[in-house]
Amino acid sequence: MLYIKGLQVHLNGRNVLDGIDLELQKGESLVILGESGVGKSVLLKSVLGIVPIVTGSIVINGVDVVTAEEEERAQALSSIGMLFQGCALFDSLPIWENVAFGLIYGKHMDISQAKEIALAKMSLVNLDSSVADLTTASLSGGMQKRVALARALALDPQIIFFDEPTTGLDPITSNVVNKLINSSVKERGIGAITITHDINCLRQIADSVAFLRRGKIIWRGTVCELDSVQDDYVYRFMHA
Ligand SMILES: Nc1ncnc2c1ncn2[C@@H]1O[C@H](COP(=O)(O)OP(=O)(O)OP(=O)(O)O)[C@@H](O)[C@H]1O
Ligand SMILES: [Mg+2]
Repeated sequence: MLYIKGLQVHLNGRNVLDGIDLELQKGESLVILGESGVGKSVLLKSVLGIVPIVTGSIVINGVDVVTAEEEERAQALSSIGMLFQGCALFDSLPIWENVAFGLIYGKHMDISQAKEIALAKMSLVNLDSSVADLTTASLSGGMQKRVALARALALDPQIIFFDEPTTGLDPITSNVVNKLINSSVKERGIGAITITHDINCLRQIADSVAFLRRGKIIWRGTVCELDSVQDDYVYRFMHA
């Protein structure tokens, strides 16, 4: 579904990503681990074209979005949903319209149909329809996270990037989110890349794990392999 080769990103005078190779299969849940500031969010944003890259290939369902023409590139990127770490909601729009944004302004869907889908996605993340007409400022941080999650799911993407999906959520809601990620991957066969510092989340959702350090993937394996990891740095990270 997604194939990344030799990805380099240069920001603030340094190579934040320095030759990343990564693959994601259909129905695979990959978790990216690494210290704060190492470039995990930048990696996902560079795939989406939000952060410019220096060099590398990013192939989404057979289309290299680095070299593709604009229309083909947009089409390939529309198969990815993203939950941003900071939510990135539109504070001038009501909650339901945040969730329905891609349906209305991307897919040009009829407003009432888009609202119906938005409400259905909100219920998946335990958000009641009574909040649909509120603005983001009147929601708690955890509720905003769930709105952002509902928006990431709204277009039924084939690939979803979850940047810290459970940060700031209570244990019960975290569990709902972890189950949602699992069911999306296992029942709908999407490919998921999740960034998390939440070890409980990692254990519940990950098939495979990639560890980012100093611009490179220094370790890749399954969760089971992570438990018996030989790499000293990865071991210390996991047992810190
Ligand atoms: N748009 C940007 N412009 C310039 N520098 C950026 C930009 N986005 C991120 N950076 C820098 O790139 C580095 C990696 O940032 P990134 O947000 O990917 O870290 P992270 O691994 O996601 O950390 P955290 O776990 O804290 O979220 C940081 O040094 C950050 O300051
Ligand atoms: Mg981040």
